[in-house]
Amino acid sequence: MKKRILVAGGTGYIGSHTVVELQNSGYEVIIVDNLSNSRAEVVDSIEKITGIRPAFEKVDCLDYEALDGVFTKYPGIQGVIHFAASKAVGESVQKPLLYYRNNIVSLVNMLELMPKHGVKGIIFSSSCTVYGQPDVLPVTEEAPIKKAESPYGNTKQINEEIIRDTVASGSPIKAIMLRYFNPIGAHPSALIGELPNGVPQNLIPYLTQTAMGIREQLSVFGDDYDTPDGSCIRDYIYVVDLAKAHVIAMNRILEDKQKESVEVFNIGTGRGLSVLELIHAFESSTGVKLNYKIAPRRQGDIVKVWADPALANNELGWKAENSIEDTLRSAWKWQEHLREEGIM
Ligand code: NAD
Ligand code: WQD
Repeated sequence: MKKRILVAGGTGYIGSHTVVELQNSGYEVIIVDNLSNSRAEVVDSIEKITGIRPAFEKVDCLDYEALDGVFTKYPGIQGVIHFAASKAVGESVQKPLLYYRNNIVSLVNMLELMPKHGVKGIIFSSSCTVYGQPDVLPVTEEAPIKKAESPYGNTKQINEEIIRDTVASGSPIKAIMLRYFNPIGAHPSALIGELPNGVPQNLIPYLTQTAMGIREQLSVFGDDYDTPDGSCIRDYIYVVDLAKAHVIAMNRILEDKQKESVEVFNIGTGRGLSVLELIHAFESSTGVKLNYKIAPRRQGDIVKVWADPALANNELGWKAENSIEDTLRSAWKWQEHLREEGIM
């Protein structure tokens, strides 16, 4: 019999790619999502890609009773992957309480319900944002957690602590916290991908929308940083590689392979790319010319961060595989799909 996994936030960007990989690996998936930042049609797309339709429940993780009902309706759920959160850094500064409530209470509800329903473990979506500007690069999991730059970032730090405290208190659950670097790209089928709401704040959707003519010009935020070409450096990780890390982490929990009840892994490539390098890689891999200009620095930006993924490579047996060129081509193919479908 297939093992049942509940994926909260499973119609979202990273969640949908993870559901595909879980189903391809033989898991049965139940998606819970309130559709606050995704569309129900994603379930159809997942079915098209995998040939399997995941169960879908439109439920808000803030609603304890409704979430309880999902666990009751689908008995025997063994693992939870918790993507459900609000993620816009700028908005979190404007609406901190919305972020604290949504991101924290959702997780608390999940952690309360898991032991009640005999769920063994949880994978939590954390972020490299917990490191702030690291003193040493590449950054390892041992690096100190810096004071959060935004309420969003703070929710990730607090949630990591909530998980540690809950397990330390004797709750019979296991946890793996994955600290994602910068997820980009889309499934090679171009049937699922990132669907930003309004004007994108993140680089890749802004870049592909500019290349498509939806936006006039991409602003490169700063070229006078202390980096080789003056623009900021990030570790861009292909979303399908990232999705696969969740499957491996879930296997690890369910097969009792963890070394500690709570583990944390960096999920990145180990390769830092500047904004200008990324733009040039996009142009050369797609043949599409990009209209961009150098603009002032963006307030609050980290100058440079990239992962030391050695722990994930050696301990999880996971490694980012896709080239940046293929990844950028997948992002462009997704943008073309959105145009063809009249979505954007
Ligand atoms: P996303 O917005 O595409 O997906 C999140 C999903 O959760 C959405 O479908 C949304 O509708 C749903 N959701 C939000 N609040 C909910 C609630 N209360 N109940 C039920 N569903 C709810 O975001 P994503 O990029 O796929 O990110 C997934 C997770 O990864 C988030 O926790 C995010 O903070 C984290 N993360 C993302 C990035 C990134 O750059 N995308 C980087 C690091 C960490
Ligand atoms: C990448 C680089 C910008 C837009 C954010 C969150 C972080 C994490 C990932 C969740 C930076 C530059 C961007 C543009 C640009 N999310 N840029 N022009 O800032 O690394 O991280 O997403 O946990 O918490 O803060 O990602 O895509 O916004 O920016 O020059 O129009 O692109 O300055 O150097 P960031 P990003």
